[in-house]
Amino acid sequence: MLVGTKNYRTVWMEGPTVFLIEQNLLPFEFKIIQAVDTEACCEAIRSMKIRGAGAIGAMAGFAMALAFIRAPKINTETYLLAARKEIEATRPTARNLFYATEKVFAAGLVSVEEAIRMAQWIADKDAEDSRMIGVYGNDLIRDGFRVETHCNAGWLAFVDYGTALSPIYTASKQGKKIFVYVDETRPRSQGARLTAWELQSAGIPHVIIPDNAGAHLMSHGKIDLIITGADRIARNGDTANKIGTLEKAIVAKEFGIPFYIAAPVSTFDFNCTGGNEIPIEERSEDEVLYQEGPDTDGILRKILVCSPGSHAENPAFDVTPAKYITGIITEKGIIKPDRKSISGLSRTNK
Ligand code: MRU
Repeated sequence: MLVGTKNYRTVWMEGPTVFLIEQNLLPFEFKIIQAVDTEACCEAIRSMKIRGAGAIGAMAGFAMALAFIRAPKINTETYLLAARKEIEATRPTARNLFYATEKVFAAGLVSVEEAIRMAQWIADKDAEDSRMIGVYGNDLIRDGFRVETHCNAGWLAFVDYGTALSPIYTASKQGKKIFVYVDETRPRSQGARLTAWELQSAGIPHVIIPDNAGAHLMSHGKIDLIITGADRIARNGDTANKIGTLEKAIVAKEFGIPFYIAAPVSTFDFNCTGGNEIPIEERSEDEVLYQEGPDTDGILRKILVCSPGSHAENPAFDVTPAKYITGIITEKGIIKPDRKSISGLSRTNK
């Protein structure tokens, strides 16, 4: 995606070095950082320097490839299994991360070159799948539509293009007039910080809304369509996505507003029978209690925004039951969130 005059991917690997956009600094500073070993890649995922299902999937693939590159000649297997365990322990919910470690680990058992090739393939495929999601999702957007989105499922959350925002980018390029309502998405504000930055950079009209404003806007007929991303989709269509998605979906159904999930096949967990099996990440209470932004000197600082001494709970995702989802936009087309359609998808994915 274009940043200024240069095209960037969110994450990429050149030789034995992984390059990534430091997302904790956005939208205040655009900085590329490097990770040269598996541990550094894992730290970047844990601290959310890189985040979003597809982007952490690509990063996990590169991290696994780096483990093969750096594996010692003795105790190789123990080293590789420990590296895989470390990568898979970074964040539990996004299926793409496990999809990537499985694939790169299997390829690496053939050769180091195969591990690298597979990691690069996963990243390239993630970008191409996202582009195709834009092509299919564009059909849902009519000229003049007002679209609400939650969290950031734009290009920063993937290798390029994004999922929920990809149809918006395609529609906008085709000259359709679109207005985007961006949920701020507390506590980490991926909507207010990242989605808003992406839309602003692309020149797409939008406003940031408080997380609790969606129902009000929907009840006043101000939203035509909702598109969000996904972190893991079960075989029955139940979908885990950023905390707060479930509320939007329930309210959308009440007001007859189409609610779509946009996700590549790599986000589907074909071994997971229903949403209650999806692991939900619990993050630090500090993300709720403190907010971070540039101080008057431009330096990022954290400030307490809650009653001192009170504690917080911080589940990072929720599960939207399939009955609230109108359809799932994938790189293979738009499908119904049901077992039959998802089994069909799994067959075409072999
Ligand atoms: O915690 P994050 O920022 O990694 O959460 C992921 C998300 O941005 C969303 O839930 C998104 O809609 C799915 S991943 C593109």
